[in-house]
Amino acid sequence: MENSFKIFPGGKLIISLLIMSTFLIKCGKNTQSGISYSRDIQTIFQYNCTSCHGNTSPSGGLSLTNYDSLMAGGNSGPVVRPKAKPEFSLLYKKVAYSEDKIPFGSRMPPNGPYLDESQIKYIWQWINNGAKNN
Ligand code: HEC
Repeated sequence: MENSFKIFPGGKLIISLLIMSTFLIKCGKNTQSGISYSRDIQTIFQYNCTSCHGNTSPSGGLSLTNYDSLMAGGNSGPVVRPKAKPEFSLLYKKVAYSEDKIPFGSRMPPNGPYLDESQIKYIWQWINNGAKNN
């Protein structure tokens, strides 16, 4: 009786550690593979784009304040093509390509500072994953 009492608390600790580590491994995997629209992409827009691409008379007719307005596109039509390679999406071209390769107008944000490599990669991955509202 006394013996099992001594073993039990330790056993409980090991079980809790196992549960915790599987949970942590799961979390780590999620942040690596899955780009989230609301957490990652909308945050980029909020800090770099919505000053011009807001809700009231947005530049280029494109509001970047939420998923629906992004997918509705701008004056030149849809800016995201979820089923095509990210390189076919105007959104990606406008933030990733150098000024001389932009199809029209300016690289975004106009006159910079442009998005950094990791932000551009996030947008690429998000479109490549199907541009989901996640
Ligand atoms: C200083 C104002 C300003 C900021 C900041 C800005 N833009 Fe723009 N954007 C414009 C203007 C003006 C146009 C229209 C002319 C052009 O396409 O160059 C435009 C056009 C666009 C278009 C093309 C829309 C269409 O349908 O023709 C996209 C896509 C775009 N911007 C994305 C972005 C993204 C993404 C950001 C943030 C990383 C951003 N812009 C930041 C001013 C801005």
